Amino acid sequence: MSAGASPDERGPLRAVPTFHPAAAGVRTAPVGTRERPLPLIIDSDPGLDDALAIGLACASPEVRLLAVTTVGGNADVAHCTENALRLLHAYGRDDVPVAEGAPGALLGDVVRATEVHGVSGVGDTHLPTAPTAPRPEGAVALMARLLAESPEPVAIAPIGPLTNIALLLRAHPRLAARIAHLCLMGGSIGEGNTTAAAEFNILADPEAADVVFRSGVPITMVGLDVTHQALLDRSSARALRELGTASGRIAAELADYALDRALERSGTATMAVHDAVAVAHLIVPDLVAVAPYHVAVETGHGPARGRTVCDGLPHRLRRLGLVPNADVGIVIDRGRFERLLLDAYARLP
Ligand code: BDR
Ligand code: CA
Repeated sequence: MSAGASPDERGPLRAVPTFHPAAAGVRTAPVGTRERPLPLIIDSDPGLDDALAIGLACASPEVRLLAVTTVGGNADVAHCTENALRLLHAYGRDDVPVAEGAPGALLGDVVRATEVHGVSGVGDTHLPTAPTAPRPEGAVALMARLLAESPEPVAIAPIGPLTNIALLLRAHPRLAARIAHLCLMGGSIGEGNTTAAAEFNILADPEAADVVFRSGVPITMVGLDVTHQALLDRSSARALRELGTASGRIAAELADYALDRALERSGTATMAVHDAVAVAHLIVPDLVAVAPYHVAVETGHGPARGRTVCDGLPHRLRRLGLVPNADVGIVIDRGRFERLLLDAYARLP
């Protein structure tokens, strides 16, 4: 390719997200096994990719799903709660309690992603009604009770805005020690997706994200740098549909809707299954390569609002007196990730 080639000949130019070649770290997140499943709460705003993440958890004997709690994010929280109930029903898991949480951010405007996920949160996917109802105690009280009652620390996968998690940490500071790990989807070392600076889950509640990243609870940040490598395409959707099951049909409809939006919005033939990467990291020990970073959240009201400022450069951290507060996802094997998801759905009804 010559420097004088036309833009069409050059093809898309990909910006390198960071100049700092992060040294791979040893993961700090626990990982479940069939013999010793990891107790897990998913805090979510379902959501096309949330729905696939919940399916992965339901089908994986490496985790014991204690609850799905909901938060306003991709869609209004009432839609998200209804989606959680219906998805669990379709996946054969009416036993998993659902509780509704915060409708919107601690401060600031309500931010939604309905242009990606549709007003319902699950595009035009048909989800049969569930016989279950949300627990009256609400998301934060349910999480607090499960943390207090569990004989072992519980992992939480927050895959929506961090409002519920911040409220939990503020209302029940002593329970922070009962959280085995927060494996969250959100943020980015590089560019954002909702603004140039910010990823959606963090932009939707930067103050909550700030509370979480300062909390001292062990965190893995599964951000866009890694989730943009966790891709499905039309052939994956076809394979899901060909499973011939209700769950496979639902997953295929979710994927097709996301693929249509990706094509319209950015001309790409793939969809990133962001949220499922956070769950996958708790199931497979070596699927996601991580590196330690200090992550700070921009809560100002300028153009960088919601940015996750990720510093992994050792000499700079020393100079600033900072220590890493999160593992940050860097690399995932796309083929293995796709197989993990398809195999999981093959086990669902
Ligand atoms: C995140 O934002 C939401 O739209 C997705 O469900 C995912 O949690 C990706 O930026
Ligand atoms: Ca989500």
